[in-house]
Amino acid sequence: EKVTLSVIKADIGGWPGHSRVHPQLVETAEEILGRARGEGTIIDFYVATCGDDLQLIMTHKKGVDSPEVHGLAWDAFKAATEVAKELGLYGAGQDLLRDAFSGNVRGMGPGVAEMEITLRKSEPVVTFHMDKTEPGAFNLPIFRMFADPFNTAGLVIDPKMHMGFRFEVWDILKHRRVILNTPEELYDLLALIGAKSRYVIKRVYPKEGHSISKDEPVAVVSTEKLYEVAGEYVGKDDPVAIVRAQGGLPALGEVLEPFAFPHLVSGWMRGSHNGPVMPVPMHQANPTRFDGPPRVVALGWQISPRGELVGPVDLFDDPAFDHARRKAVEIAEYMRRHGPFEPHRLPMEEMEYTTLPGVLERLEERFEDIE
Ligand code: 13P
Ligand code: 13P
Ligand code: MG
Ligand code: MG
Ligand code: MG
Ligand code: MG
Repeated sequence: EKVTLSVIKADIGGWPGHSRVHPQLVETAEEILGRARGEGTIIDFYVATCGDDLQLIMTHKKGVDSPEVHGLAWDAFKAATEVAKELGLYGAGQDLLRDAFSGNVRGMGPGVAEMEITLRKSEPVVTFHMDKTEPGAFNLPIFRMFADPFNTAGLVIDPKMHMGFRFEVWDILKHRRVILNTPEELYDLLALIGAKSRYVIKRVYPKEGHSISKDEPVAVVSTEKLYEVAGEYVGKDDPVAIVRAQGGLPALGEVLEPFAFPHLVSGWMRGSHNGPVMPVPMHQANPTRFDGPPRVVALGWQISPRGELVGPVDLFDDPAFDHARRKAVEIAEYMRRHGPFEPHRLPMEEMEYTTLPGVLERLEERFEDIE
């Protein structure tokens, strides 16, 4: 029996600035999804938040890219935008970049991570929600979960996952993709995904011979690029991801372990700075220091045989992640001392999509050639 898990998210107004989602937006989305669950469009849902991003987590039987489910998400975002406008929230409707829905929210502003899966006897899943960063921020942790034996003991000691996994990597610039196998092509994979602003892990699949079909994703990341849709800077496309765990896949703790290291990601203030990603429980996902530092929330679920979401369990609500949080604060402090200098500020190529070119343009006529 197949069930689809869809996480669709959008920033439709911050409270205040870009800090967090106002509870009335959550209530509005809950009402609309609640009605849809009553009518049978979806099986179950949960509305979460991370920073200023509203996150719709849904299960249903309609497959990925379903016009009905995407349309439902769009309606929920639209309705919440109306509330955001009434409250005068900051950037009301920020991520809704098109006026009319045309069957699919991809390329319209919201971020999407979806997978259609054959439910196992027990289906543990983690949904990850990041704010103040971009999809490439998932490259390092997803790599470590599914390919790094120093992170995931199961790669070494569990015969069910010893054969490794397949990574689908997207070249964001050239709109193309490649599948690489690990461990055989580990170095090729790293050659690409180390360049996280260009090459982004989109999905991970099992290999032939795994108990899960090799065509069913075991991890998926949202990879929408807002600036390509908007044509100008409208905030970073704060990403989400879905990862399945246990039973020939990384154990829950192996899925979370990469976040014990607060790695550097792009985003933070004005989407223009490098900084550490801090693993936090939901109640701490309100980035305010220099609009950050970037956050990641991990929600744990068991999907019931009927497709219901049993959860969430707020997985970073564990003092064992205190050290990562402290370390993130320390790194944030260190990075901040660089002020407007690289590598705290992003390199020029990435600043192209911000407001910086507007400043540089004004200086253009002051330049003269050097002999
Ligand atoms: P339990 O013995 O608690 O089920 O744990 C097994 C396991 O795989 C932990 O990673
Ligand atoms: P968001 O992408 O979370 O809206 O943040 C934008 C920003 O400019 C923060 O300083
Ligand atoms: Mg915002
Ligand atoms: Mg955001
Ligand atoms: Mg954003
Ligand atoms: Mg429920």
